[in-house]
Amino acid sequence: MMAMTSPGSEAAPSPTPCGKFQHTEEDRGNEREKDAPGYAGIHVDLQMVDGHLSYFLGAVGVTGLTALLGVREKGHVTKGANQTMVVSGAAGACGSLAGQIGRLDGCVRVVGICGSDEKCKALVEDLGFSAAVNYRGEDISARLQDICPDGVDVYFDNVGGAVSEAVIEQMNKGGHVILCGQISQYNKDVPYPPPLSDKTQEILQSRSITRERFMVLSYMSKAEAALFELSQLVKSAQIKVLETVVNGIENMGVAFCSMMRGGNIGKQIVKISD
Ligand SMILES: NC(=O)c1ccc[n+]([C@@H]2O[C@H](COP(=O)([O-])OP(=O)(O)OC[C@H]3O[C@@H](n4cnc5c(N)ncnc54)[C@H](OP(=O)(O)O)[C@@H]3O)[C@@H](O)[C@H]2O)c1
Repeated sequence: MMAMTSPGSEAAPSPTPCGKFQHTEEDRGNEREKDAPGYAGIHVDLQMVDGHLSYFLGAVGVTGLTALLGVREKGHVTKGANQTMVVSGAAGACGSLAGQIGRLDGCVRVVGICGSDEKCKALVEDLGFSAAVNYRGEDISARLQDICPDGVDVYFDNVGGAVSEAVIEQMNKGGHVILCGQISQYNKDVPYPPPLSDKTQEILQSRSITRERFMVLSYMSKAEAALFELSQLVKSAQIKVLETVVNGIENMGVAFCSMMRGGNIGKQIVKISD
């Protein structure tokens, strides 16, 4: 099994099906020099995924950690606070989990933004999102005004660019942007995080909206507990996992190109053998 990861995402250790996260030679050298870095020594076993090994590459792996810890560390989701969350790249590996976690943590409304009607349908009908917007065919601002009548409190941002400018415009005072990724900007010659337009920057300041960079590898001391929580959430079907599986290593290039075009719903997996 191989996981495909979108370009620009942070390099991440690969979990083995049963045992510890694999380390590079560089990691091992670092460990010898000082205390092991955060992700070292995390034990996983097959029961965590009920034998569904590919989940270690997604929902019960670094992708799940990114969604869970991103929401928890930067989202300020509070039960009973009547919050609305918007997720961009919502039908991708990370976004599809982040929206479900936002709902479980207490957001009363979770809206996904993605690039096709088929993805919108999957978000609402399969994953329980409150609504979904197809950014390729719909006016994001108009739709958000319609389906988020109380504004947006938490924005899990995977894509940046025009989509994010439109979301931030709808955000409430004291809201929080979880700066997970900026996939629409990765091949551009811009710093990270990419600068926003003056108008959007002014909105952030005048409404006291936070937009803090989140990097999962900075939170590896919380990874073991978070992986067990993700495992429980998946096994109890509180979180549903979507995967797009391509069979055969000979089709890895096809899978990669498809992922680069946004062809995947959930995690892109290449299945090599059982
Ligand atoms: N902060 C961290 O520690 C961390 C860790 C891992 C990943 N990440 C980041 O998290 C984000 C999501 O990663 P992932 O693994 O979920 O990727 P993924 O499964 O490939 O999903 C990303 C989705 O974004 C959408 N997208 C691509 N280009 C876009 C554009 N120009 N405008 C709007 N949407 C676009 C695509 O779907 P549609 O266009 O069809 O909607 C695509 O399926 C990436 O930015 C990645 O770099 C961050």
